[in-house]
Amino acid sequence: MNLSQFSLQGKVALVTGASSGIGYGVAAGMAAAGAKVVVAARRIDRLEELVSVIERDGGQALAVSLDVTDKESIAAAFDTAQAEFGVVDTLVNNAGIADESRFPNVDDDTLERVMDTNFTGVWNVAQAAAHRMIAADIAGSITNIASILGLRGHKSSAAYCASKGAVVQATRAMALDLVRHGIRVNALAPGWFVTEMNEHFLTSDKGKAYLKATPARRAGKVDELVGPIILLASSAGSFINGAILPVDGAHSATLV
Ligand code: NAI
Repeated sequence: MNLSQFSLQGKVALVTGASSGIGYGVAAGMAAAGAKVVVAARRIDRLEELVSVIERDGGQALAVSLDVTDKESIAAAFDTAQAEFGVVDTLVNNAGIADESRFPNVDDDTLERVMDTNFTGVWNVAQAAAHRMIAADIAGSITNIASILGLRGHKSSAAYCASKGAVVQATRAMALDLVRHGIRVNALAPGWFVTEMNEHFLTSDKGKAYLKATPARRAGKVDELVGPIILLASSAGSFINGAILPVDGAHSATLV
């Protein structure tokens, strides 16, 4: 086996929601694996800082402003990426938001906001990437960041669970429609990782007790998502398509 299969050299990656948390770490990891990485989110100052870190470590990166709920902003981000680095052939659809309302309390605005970002955003960014790869006749990959809450139910997370469940199913269907174009589509389903999205809960006494009760008795570290992302995005994963990969220390393998 040739370990260079895991290299992302020659690839042009775009990571949404790269200004913090999982997106930030994954973008840095993909750059270290050789990809030119377009880091995309709304907070451009934080993206510029990430670009500096990547460049300091010898990688190549470009910051672009992107709101995944705005189709014009998506098109502009892909235009800028393409002009600078070439056609994006490796997408990580990571941007997302949480909501902790119990089902009876989820109002229309909240549901729309969660679905627009977590599902329609993933859909629209994937479609923009696919259109451009197909037009350029190049193979590539799309990795959607779902969640184990797209596979299992959870209290006080109805809108979030629904949005991530939709990402899981869309991933499978996208894979089937894009396989003829040489574009693979997979999803990562992370368990719990301490980020801006959930640190208020996971660092609380209740949150710590919750994590202790999970099979791994701890949260994941963002670095533990980098290897799985590289596997899915590199030629090492050339026959992995339409898969949903939990990275959760066995959390989704148990019913509790
Ligand atoms: P985070 O809050 O640190 O990162 C989310 C990123 O998405 C931020 O950079 C945010 O600015 C960006 N974002 C939100 N709305 C956006 C929009 N409209 N346009 C562009 N960017 C937007 O949280 P985290 O944890 O890093 O989340 C990343 C992804 O991982 C999300 O999709 C989340 O649902 C998913 N996830 C996180 C888990 C965790 O335990 N942290 C577990 C399972 C999934």
